[in-house]
Amino acid sequence: MKQEKILIVGAGGQIGVELTLALRKVYGTDNVIATDIKEAHPLLKDSGPYAILNAMDAAATHALVKKEGITQIYLLAALLSATGEKNPHKAWEINMQSLISTLDLGVQEKLTKIYWPSSIAVFGPTTPTSNTPQQTVVEPRTVYGISKYAGELWCQYYNQRWGLDVRSLRYPGLISWKSEPGGGTTDYAVEIYHEALKHKKYTSFLSENTYLPMMYMDDAIRGTIELMEAPAEQMKTRMAYNLSAMSFSPKEIAAAIQKHIPDFTIDYAPDFRQAIADGWPKSIDDSAARADWGWKNEFDLDSMSADMLKHLKEKMLQTV
Ligand code: SER
Repeated sequence: MKQEKILIVGAGGQIGVELTLALRKVYGTDNVIATDIKEAHPLLKDSGPYAILNAMDAAATHALVKKEGITQIYLLAALLSATGEKNPHKAWEINMQSLISTLDLGVQEKLTKIYWPSSIAVFGPTTPTSNTPQQTVVEPRTVYGISKYAGELWCQYYNQRWGLDVRSLRYPGLISWKSEPGGGTTDYAVEIYHEALKHKKYTSFLSENTYLPMMYMDDAIRGTIELMEAPAEQMKTRMAYNLSAMSFSPKEIAAAIQKHIPDFTIDYAPDFRQAIADGWPKSIDDSAARADWGWKNEFDLDSMSADMLKHLKEKMLQTV
């Protein structure tokens, strides 16, 4: 079997840090080159090969692919939903241009596989909100969602036209303790754990009964690697797969935290992100992912909350 050499673009983000560490365990440290526009995230410092790379710089990316003999790219650089609404043109440019030049590179350099994340943000207010199917009405209202849906179509196009093996998942909100989220509408569900431990109170920027699909990062990373390792004939769609684990509201995550920190309190001050959340599904039907390549989540709200609080507490103790 040919040895894979993986390039991660946007390795310093919430998914990138943990995916880099996980892929290094599978493929060997030296076979996973982490890159980002910024200096290495603390967890990636001294953990393996690292280079500064701007995802928009197609020539530099191409040169790195040649120099390192890259066979697979994970393109994770993007502006997320909340940041995207503040600067729609920039979000469109970054999210689309980096994808199309990576797909071109994939064809040109005959890469074996490309991974590119999509999101529940592809759906919009006209989509059925409960158990949203894999194929349904898709009319995103955020620039992030528009770029993700257009991107899925481009991935499908490159697969059909040039046989490029590009794979994708529609992640729900991702909750992690190792790496920090940035610019998302679902980020409240990470902040709340930090604030619960630090101040025993949290003001949520989403209202108390706003249900959104969510997932613990451990599940997301395992699912991503499982998707990428599944035989190509099991990929029945070349759009992104719906992926689901749990759904909860700010009120429910607060109650899960109160099981560990009984005097934790929450209040609500919805901001512009409320409208984004209101346009997204409350729960997702991921039966296609389960049937086609065996996806199965492990964590629910209670097991995730216990794990998050345990690890964040340890991390806070280490930094004092
Ligand atoms: N977590 C993302 C966001 O909130 C959704 O993909 O933007």
